[in-house]
Amino acid sequence: MAETRVDQQKVLTAFQRTYGLPPALVARAPGRVNLIGGHTDYNQGYVLPAAIDRWTYFALAPAERREIRCRSAQFTGELVVGLDDLQGEAPPWSEYVRGVLWVLRQQGHALRPWRGLLMGDVPLGAGLSSSASLELALLRGLAAWLDLPWEPQAMARLGQRAERQWVGVQCGIMDQLAAACGRERHALLIDCRSLELEPIPLPAQIALVVLDTGTRRSLADSAYNRRREECAQAAEICGLQSLRDLTPERLGAMQRELGPALYRRARHVVSENQRVLAAAQALRRGDMAAVGALLLESHASLAEDYQVSSAALDAMVEIARQAPGCLGARMTGAGFGGCALALVSSEQVPAFSDDVRRVYAGRTGHKPRIYACRAVAGAELVWQGG
Ligand code: GLA
Repeated sequence: MAETRVDQQKVLTAFQRTYGLPPALVARAPGRVNLIGGHTDYNQGYVLPAAIDRWTYFALAPAERREIRCRSAQFTGELVVGLDDLQGEAPPWSEYVRGVLWVLRQQGHALRPWRGLLMGDVPLGAGLSSSASLELALLRGLAAWLDLPWEPQAMARLGQRAERQWVGVQCGIMDQLAAACGRERHALLIDCRSLELEPIPLPAQIALVVLDTGTRRSLADSAYNRRREECAQAAEICGLQSLRDLTPERLGAMQRELGPALYRRARHVVSENQRVLAAAQALRRGDMAAVGALLLESHASLAEDYQVSSAALDAMVEIARQAPGCLGARMTGAGFGGCALALVSSEQVPAFSDDVRRVYAGRTGHKPRIYACRAVAGAELVWQGG
């Protein structure tokens, strides 16, 4: 089945159909893929994501009554809440919207009434950060609506706070930063302790190919939170604030105290941080073969030491690495299902995709989806009515 794409025109048409008038503004924010740096962000380590050309759009128009209404083109139900207490009707998908409204109010910003529509083509639940893209699209649109200055890093932190404190997912900062601060044709090297961010150019002859295994994470949230706890425990045993500060030497010395499971978790974090920095170096000098090799090492470490891969993800990576034009592949996102990423020579993308589709379906019985992506800019205002 061909992918359904969304663009500004479709959003304008859908808004008109829903509310019988044009919106006052349209904002959008992208999904992301992480090249390397799996499960390092919440250990205050390094990550290397890129924002990708799949977006969540948010359109709004003023409303007369003192309330906020929001619909989604992908889900049923309507969010209808008052401006002061955010109480009212709230279907499950709209908790992200309420979370963003809550965080803006917490910052002391007075809300104004609006009616809005969300619409997008970031695959849902696939590990491509559809939720962060929704949060940042909302924040971009509401910043314009409420005359707030647009400070991407600060807004990314608000999006993360909405997700952690309102929705209850203990995520790191990577996804929101990528959705807020993405740069066209660049990956972002992020230091998740200082939040310092360096855009690094991606060569035009290399495509980012997202490989959806067609399996979804099960138990992911509890397993994700368990990994976070294990890391915190390992850091504490080592007498450190976070695993970011663990050196390979100290890791070796602490092996017995950590015990086999925590030792493996910590070894993944320590080695993954080194791989992120090595991949950033290789990218700066245009050595894509080296970047590809690091992706494969990252996958092995996530599968064996961190234990967040799955049979489908392992099969996908194994098949991708042998397909035409592939420089390297790894699982991306939280794991346990969802997507892998492959770096592929641009002119080989069709042959690569055909091969992966055929072999993966034959071997696993799952139907893969394949998205060739480009790196794009972060959250932006794309349309303002007269
Ligand atoms: C999820 C989280 C991120 C990050 C990744 C794993 O996508 O939202 O913060 O921890 O998993 O790298």
